[in-house]
Amino acid sequence: MSAVIARDIVKKFAEVPAVNGISLSIPDGEFMVLLGPSGCGKTTFLRIICGLEQQTSGDLMIGGAIVNELPPRARGVAMMFQSYGLYPHYTVRNNIAFPLKTQRVPREKINKQVEWASQLLGIDHLLDRRPRQLSGGERQRVALARALVREPTALLLDEPLSNLDAKLRTMARQEIKNFQQRVGLTTIYVTHDQVEAMGMGDRIAVIDHGNIRQVGTPTEIYNDPADLFVATFVGSPPMNIVTHSGGGYLGFRPENFLPKNMIEDGAATEFKFRVDRSEYLGAERIVYGVLDGFESKQIITAKLPPAHVDEKNIRPGEWHTFAVKNSELRQFDKNGNRATSH
Ligand SMILES: Nc1ncnc2c1ncn2[C@@H]1O[C@H](COP(=O)(O)OP(=O)(O)O)[C@@H](O)[C@H]1O
Ligand SMILES: [Mg+2]
Repeated sequence: MSAVIARDIVKKFAEVPAVNGISLSIPDGEFMVLLGPSGCGKTTFLRIICGLEQQTSGDLMIGGAIVNELPPRARGVAMMFQSYGLYPHYTVRNNIAFPLKTQRVPREKINKQVEWASQLLGIDHLLDRRPRQLSGGERQRVALARALVREPTALLLDEPLSNLDAKLRTMARQEIKNFQQRVGLTTIYVTHDQVEAMGMGDRIAVIDHGNIRQVGTPTEIYNDPADLFVATFVGSPPMNIVTHSGGGYLGFRPENFLPKNMIEDGAATEFKFRVDRSEYLGAERIVYGVLDGFESKQIITAKLPPAHVDEKNIRPGEWHTFAVKNSELRQFDKNGNRATSH
């Protein structure tokens, strides 16, 4: 197992940077999530780590050695792609064995490794089937077994759950996470899904336009976003942002924006809030409205416990006094960066 360290990695395609100077240090055994919107450079960065793409500049270290010049096979990392790329006419056994066969590993060793990887993923009873005879979740496990069969020192996963339906995705998320914790394999997991990132990452690197905006634990990313991009990319609904008189911004999470009488002790900032619409979602009620004294088109959301608030006491058109505890307010400067730490 290995640490992965990137130092100022740049990748340009015809002078256009896809990766714009990424430095990131992933300790041995960490589950690191790369989170960012489509097109921000996540796949390109993963392909550079595994050697399928050559960086324009910058250094990459795996397990303490610079691997810039090493071909993919010699880097000891495995990558699992978004489309699993299983061979439809091969059995599960031969799909898993494939990376070893291309390396001319002796048959006995191959059998041993296939057995080991398929047991690890709980698919040893499926070895004689073909991919079309498998469920989506089973296919995903086969692809994972194939990635692991060479016992890589690091595992790179590129949006591995995007082909699964919502329910299966939640299950597969647990499966990958449990597996990674059991094996302790350094893992770099790419997704555009902030829920996946929050639920799975030991740490998250938030990427935008080929740049890392922030690296931190899910708690740090959620509670102390470094800038407006991170603040509004993570969280659903996103953090409310309003411009204040000084030209900077004030941010607060929907779940911290509450009717004044629901705020317990501690200093709080009050707002006049006009309710426009609300949605009952079972576990919560999302209320949409606008604030008095701020840009009138800006929609503000509140996430309230339905037991405390229903349509009868929060009606469209009504003005209410809402408040945010001062400890839950976040300030950003006019460039969108965090203005103060607390
Ligand atoms: N082989 C390529 N040639 C030219 N441009 C590319 C190539 N691969 C990726 N890009 C561009 O680089 C940017 C980042 O792409 P990618 O790494 O696939 O993003 P992500 O995985 O975050 O969606 C995009 O603008 C994409 O169009
Ligand atoms: Mg991608």
